Amino acid sequence: MMNNFNIINKNQLSPDVWRYTLSAPDIARKRRAGHFIILRPLADSERIPLTIVSSDQDQGTIDIIFQVVGATTRDLAGLRAGEPVKDLIGPLGHPTEIAKHGTVAMVGGGVGIAPLLPIAQAFRAAGNRLVTILGARARSLLILEQELASISDKVLLTTDDGSAGQKGLVTAALEPLLVAREIDFVMAVGPVPMMKAVADLTRGFGVKTMVSLNPLMLDGTGMCGVCRCQVAGKTRFACVEGPEFDAHQVDFDSLRRRLTMFREEEKARREAKPSGGSHAA
Ligand code: FAD
Ligand code: FES
Ligand code: MG
Repeated sequence: MMNNFNIINKNQLSPDVWRYTLSAPDIARKRRAGHFIILRPLADSERIPLTIVSSDQDQGTIDIIFQVVGATTRDLAGLRAGEPVKDLIGPLGHPTEIAKHGTVAMVGGGVGIAPLLPIAQAFRAAGNRLVTILGARARSLLILEQELASISDKVLLTTDDGSAGQKGLVTAALEPLLVAREIDFVMAVGPVPMMKAVADLTRGFGVKTMVSLNPLMLDGTGMCGVCRCQVAGKTRFACVEGPEFDAHQVDFDSLRRRLTMFREEEKARREAKPSGGSHAA
């Protein structure tokens, strides 16, 4: 393939969150809402999955938004505009199943708001009314508010410290809407405890809820089994069968345990690799 996966644009969205535009014409052509890529920033980095937030077929580019949480995302943030990422595969995963449900609550937590944007755009294009609920620890960590507001009928913000919107969790903003029977379908993307809390809440109201799971991944092709999740009592490979699943069927506790199983190794790698820093664009 001729692609060299250059970083065309580099923008900082919040203290640890970056938006990159990457040259990837083949992926830009095929990509649909819900797809992700697996990339390796440097030759000695691990491969990590990141959602394709948007694409431009004419320019042959895709956008990703990522939060620096460990060694690999730090390697990625250390690259400069004009430099290439070492390698990149995609589009991966099942695209989102888009249907007209009526009023859809789009619930995003932290950097989970990034994967939410293309899904929200697709639900909007299918004629749904969107109520978007965005949650973060503090205002400075809320991303993509304008983009989501431009396609939503209503946007509700929640922050842990009350610095924007309602103080508290996304479920505090969602519950009154469910009580009022305003919501026909929920899509939630964010940290595991947030998705679990949303699932527990909507189950009681019988409102269909989908979540985009974020297990560890390695090959992204269904071969290694690293991304396995328990859904409806069965083992499912999120990279090829997901990453979106029925929230009421997901075993979130086992997902949380698997996400932390390499914590010591991840810490050792962060400490062993000197900080790549976060270069300016
Ligand atoms: P590590 O040092 O490996 O991990 C640091 C901490 O982050 C650890 O506590 C670890 O448990 C946790 N962590 C590790 N991997 C994941 C993971 N897969 N999900 C959640 N927490 C993790 N992140 C984004 O910022 N933007 C995205 O658009 C995005 N899309 C994703 C799409 C999919 C399908 C999946 C599976 C994950 C996605 N992620 C996204 C999460 C991203 O892949 C991880 O943050 C990344 O792999 C962490 O790598 P690291 O080496 O920098 O951190
Ligand atoms: Fe290897 Fe899914 S990441 S099977
Ligand atoms: Mg890692």
